Amino acid sequence: STIKVAVLVGSLRKASINKRLARAVERLAPKEFVFEHVRIDNLPLYDQDFDADYPAEAKRLKREIEAADALLFVTPEYNRGVPGVLKNALDVASRPWGTNSFAGKPGAVIGASIGATGSALAQQHLRNSLVFVDVAMLAQPEVFVQFKDDGLIDAEGHVANEGTQKFLQGFVDRYVEWVRRHLK
Ligand code: FNR
Repeated sequence: STIKVAVLVGSLRKASINKRLARAVERLAPKEFVFEHVRIDNLPLYDQDFDADYPAEAKRLKREIEAADALLFVTPEYNRGVPGVLKNALDVASRPWGTNSFAGKPGAVIGASIGATGSALAQQHLRNSLVFVDVAMLAQPEVFVQFKDDGLIDAEGHVANEGTQKFLQGFVDRYVEWVRRHLK
């Protein structure tokens, strides 16, 4: 049977290297893993006053997270932290209090940047919040991809470098095993 993975990417731009990294991971996963990109660009900025009457797009996000068996976060690093658009989505889906949509789901965070740290600080920052909202986070392997060459991964997720491809396959294998273990 199929395993639904909700993918949240912390970059909105078309040519995003993180969107390409997400595609690469999807290509390397077994067929029964179905990856669905969750929209986060049209959410209102979280306001605690929402809790009395949650906005439609916020409810839609919560439903999509809740319908998923597993989560995959793919994030760039903005000023040594998580892009606001992704943190906003996390806040929106974690509330109203007592209705945290993430609770108990298996997940992982990966990411890419043009800098040598490969979005490591953003990922660590995001990991803190995800552990707090009770996502069962895969610890290893960590995936900090540096795009020294913009051609490293194309729009369809083809990986140009064999070493990077093998490394990503190693991540995917561990992720798949982690998710399956949690669904038993
Ligand atoms: C960046 N970038 C960046 N890179 C990095 O390694 N560490 C950082 O702290 C930052 N900070 C940062 C802030 C802002 C506002 C922008 C727009 C960019 C560069 C970043 O890695 C690069 O733009 C990536 O291409 C962003 O990822 P996407 O959009 O291609 O997925």
